[in-house]
Amino acid sequence: MHSDQIKQFDPSSLSSSSSSSLTAPVSALVSEAVPSPPLSPSSSSSSPNEPSLTSLISDIHKVLGPDQGLDSKNIDAGEIIRLMEQYSSNSKDWAKYAMFDHSRAYTRNLIDDGNGKFNLMILAWSKNQQSPIHNHSGSHCIMKILDGELQETLYDWPNRVEESGESADITAAVVESKPSIDGGVPLNVSRDTMYHANQVTYVHDSIGLHRIKNPSQQQGAVSLHLYTPPYQLCKTFEEKTGKARSSGVCTFYSVKGTPVCD
Ligand SMILES: [Fe+2]
Repeated sequence: MHSDQIKQFDPSSLSSSSSSSLTAPVSALVSEAVPSPPLSPSSSSSSPNEPSLTSLISDIHKVLGPDQGLDSKNIDAGEIIRLMEQYSSNSKDWAKYAMFDHSRAYTRNLIDDGNGKFNLMILAWSKNQQSPIHNHSGSHCIMKILDGELQETLYDWPNRVEESGESADITAAVVESKPSIDGGVPLNVSRDTMYHANQVTYVHDSIGLHRIKNPSQQQGAVSLHLYTPPYQLCKTFEEKTGKARSSGVCTFYSVKGTPVCD
């Protein structure tokens, strides 16, 4: 890793939309996968009473605390989504975690390991980069945009998952110039959505596969992700053939604001 590839988030680059809250229509998505309570509307203005990132983390611990099982069927994703919606992005809260390694499509920065119940992390997306299409290994994935814009493309599962013995780093830049195998069936796109600062979205294997992309040619993007239960391995999928690969073990570039990657 070269030091010139490492870039901490610059608060002065925060886009103006990051300080406002937008109501995210995630309740309909959650209802496809798990029962959820009505979501309260997001706050639309800054106030001294708005939760900080620290209080958001504390509230998540209360919901996913020691009495909650790790089985995702027992976890109320709607409650976590509501908490994530109530937090209004403030770069003073998260800039210290938002490290960019521009040799990757995106950089995984762990904030809190949830005592084994969840992983809360900040992903820093290099400009014009995207994740591979992937699943979430049975976990709930809740994503909030902190800065910039991110495009989520949702795909249906292939009729049959054929996994090769290969594995690939899930944070590596995605290049899909030509199919790696003959045959196969292209994945079907079920939804394509652009998310802006403070919007929240949710995905689970019961909804489908997805790809996240920072479409901007000019600036990076930053997002807050909660995965519960936490997972280390998932599958990635080739769009043109549906062929699956293991993601390899997902590692972190930094933990609690300290780089841990050589
Ligand atoms: Fe994902």
